[in-house]
Amino acid sequence: MAIKDQFLFFCTNVGNEKLLKEEIRVFYPDFNFSYSRKGFLTYKNKGINYDLDTISQLELTFSTTAGICLGQSKPNSLLEAVKNSCDEIMLDLSKCMIHSFSINTEFELPALEIFQKEVNEYAPINKTIIDIITLGEEEVWYGVHKVGKLSPNYPNSHIDIALPPEAPSKSYLKIAQAVELFHIQLNSTDGWFDFGSAPGVASYYLLSKGCKVWGVDTAKMDSIVMENSNYTHFSKAVQDLSQEDLPYRDIQWVHVDLNLNPKQAIKEVLRLCKKYSARLKGILFTVQMVKNEYVQNIEDFEDQFYDWGFTNVTSRQVPSHKNEYLILAKR
Ligand SMILES: C[S@@+](CC[C@H](N)C(=O)[O-])C[C@H]1O[C@@H](n2cnc3c(N)ncnc32)[C@H](O)[C@@H]1O
Repeated sequence: MAIKDQFLFFCTNVGNEKLLKEEIRVFYPDFNFSYSRKGFLTYKNKGINYDLDTISQLELTFSTTAGICLGQSKPNSLLEAVKNSCDEIMLDLSKCMIHSFSINTEFELPALEIFQKEVNEYAPINKTIIDIITLGEEEVWYGVHKVGKLSPNYPNSHIDIALPPEAPSKSYLKIAQAVELFHIQLNSTDGWFDFGSAPGVASYYLLSKGCKVWGVDTAKMDSIVMENSNYTHFSKAVQDLSQEDLPYRDIQWVHVDLNLNPKQAIKEVLRLCKKYSARLKGILFTVQMVKNEYVQNIEDFEDQFYDWGFTNVTSRQVPSHKNEYLILAKR
C-alpha cells in the first residue's frame, strides 16, 4: 500500500476530541493534526507509513475507530471515489466489508443502496473494512482498516444494546457495551466483585446475566439489586476493607467504578484482589478522567496491572463513556 502523503483518521466519542488529541500528542508525536469535526479527526503521518497490518495494531484509548484515511466525497460521487482510491492502493473492494456510520448528524447515508451489498455486519479478526464516515449531508469521509486484536468488530464500536425499562439508569450501557466489545464470557458460575457499586447499575446487569455479585459502596443501593438473593452488599469504604472481610467463595471477575483518584483506587483494589489471585480471570477498572493530564498516565496505570501479574491489559473507551475509560486486565 504505497501512499506518498499518508493521512490517518480517528473517530472518538463526541466531546472527547481534546482527550484524543492529547493522547496522540503524547504517544504518537509523528502525527500532525490536519482536520477535525465533532467526533472525527484526521492527521498527517510524518513517520513510517502504516499498512493494513500495522494500522490494526494502533492502540488509542480515546479512539472508537482508526484507520488510513483515503479521502472525502459527496454522497452522489462516493462509490466512484471509493473505487478509485481502492484501485490506487491495489485493494479489492469486493473483498472488503463496509462499515458505514454517521457522527453528530441525523443524516444517514443509504450505504446499502450505494455499495449494493450488506453493510455494518460484525467483522471478524483480519477482515479489511472500508469505513464510511458521514459527518453531514455533503460531507462523507472514507478510509480503511483491518480488524486486529485491539480494534472493534462493530462499526465505530457501536453495538445495538437495548436498555431494559427496569434498569436503574442509562449507565447500564457502559458495562453492557464493555462486555460485548471485550468479548467477556458471563458464566452463571462466576462470582463478581463490584467496587463502587451504588446505585447498582453494573451489579444489576451482572445479576440479570445470572452472576453472583458482591458489592462495596457507602452510598445507597437500588432496591432491585438489594432484594436479589444473588447480591451481597458491604457498606464500607474500600480503604476500610481488609482481605478478611471479603467472601471466601472464589471471585473470578472484578468490576471497579469508584469516584476516587485512579492511583489510589488501583492500589486499594489490587491490594484486596490478592485474596483471589490464583483464580481471578480479570478486572474491568473504570478510570475517571477528572483531569485531562491523566492521559499521560495511561501506560503507568496499565503497568500496575502488569506488575500484579496480568498479561493482557487494554485501555479503551466504549461509546457510552464520557469522561472515563476502562482498563481491562486479563490473565
Ligand atoms: C460512578 S459511581 C458507581 C456507579 C455504579 N458502578 C453503578 O453501576 O451503578 C461511583 C461510586 O463510587 C463510590 N465510592 C467513592 N469512593 C468510595 C470509596 N472510597 N469506597 C467505596 N465506594 C466509594 C461512590 O459512593 C459512588 O457510588
